Amino acid sequence: MNIIKTIAEMREEARENARRDASVGFVPTMGALHEGHVSLMRRSLEDNDVTVASIFVNPTQFNEQDDFDKYPRTFEQDCEILEAAGVDTLFAPEAEEMYHPRHQTSVAVAQLADHLCGISRGRRHFMGVCTVVSKLFNCVQPTRAYFGQKDAQQALIIQRMVIDLNFPVEIVVCPIVREKDGLAMSSRNRRIADDLRDSALTLVRSFGYACGMLKDGERDAQTLINGMMEFILRDRRVEVDYVSIVSPETLEDVATVDDFSLIAGAILIGDVRLIDNILVTPEGPARGQIEFI
Ligand code: PAF
Repeated sequence: MNIIKTIAEMREEARENARRDASVGFVPTMGALHEGHVSLMRRSLEDNDVTVASIFVNPTQFNEQDDFDKYPRTFEQDCEILEAAGVDTLFAPEAEEMYHPRHQTSVAVAQLADHLCGISRGRRHFMGVCTVVSKLFNCVQPTRAYFGQKDAQQALIIQRMVIDLNFPVEIVVCPIVREKDGLAMSSRNRRIADDLRDSALTLVRSFGYACGMLKDGERDAQTLINGMMEFILRDRRVEVDYVSIVSPETLEDVATVDDFSLIAGAILIGDVRLIDNILVTPEGPARGQIEFI
């Protein structure tokens, strides 16, 4: 695997890919790789002539210095995972390479960032994500880029950005990968203490609870949310950031589940913030969504 640290070299490789007319799949990451990331790499390897991954812990998308400092960094192990998966190139720039000391340009997607995580993490979070993803797209020049459904709002915002700013990139959103017990894979999971592991499962289990209510005929979003909140808060070690039921297209709250709807939530387990979501229909989980334990 070719490891590239500078934008100039990444651009040179992008030019070479274009000269060869090679399709380029791109998987942007912040490292601390897990099976969820590997599923994106596999999909990219299937779809494209060349696969590029990036590892860059992007400072502009963290609101708190502490969260940025604590973000797991496992570069050597990540390289082994990427190598084993068959990734062709890793782009791993330093912060000084990506951000000019006087940088002042940001990319913001307006309404979609005003819901769900945008409320608790603030607009700046998604501005940081959009800005860095735009910069990475400009460096890598991908044909397709791969994102996980676990960050459903991020994937939707990036899809919007790519359309609005005419990036010549196809965005591919891949299913959530879960641990055996149902916990959505996340780089943050490794920060959950063993004795809090069961508490981390309350969010996904509350989705199961809501699906049970849907199957019993409940359609009222607020009643479903109240049910999930009560279910989660029975565990006193969990704090709820939000539980919402929204349109999967606009992310606006729905009053009743009478079409495809996204149930999304964020909880705090100690100082670890976990997010998860599930697409439902009035009958329960949409096809291809999780089976509950
Ligand atoms: O999902 C992530 O890991 C990050 O938000 C991304 C897309 C790599 C941008 O920093």
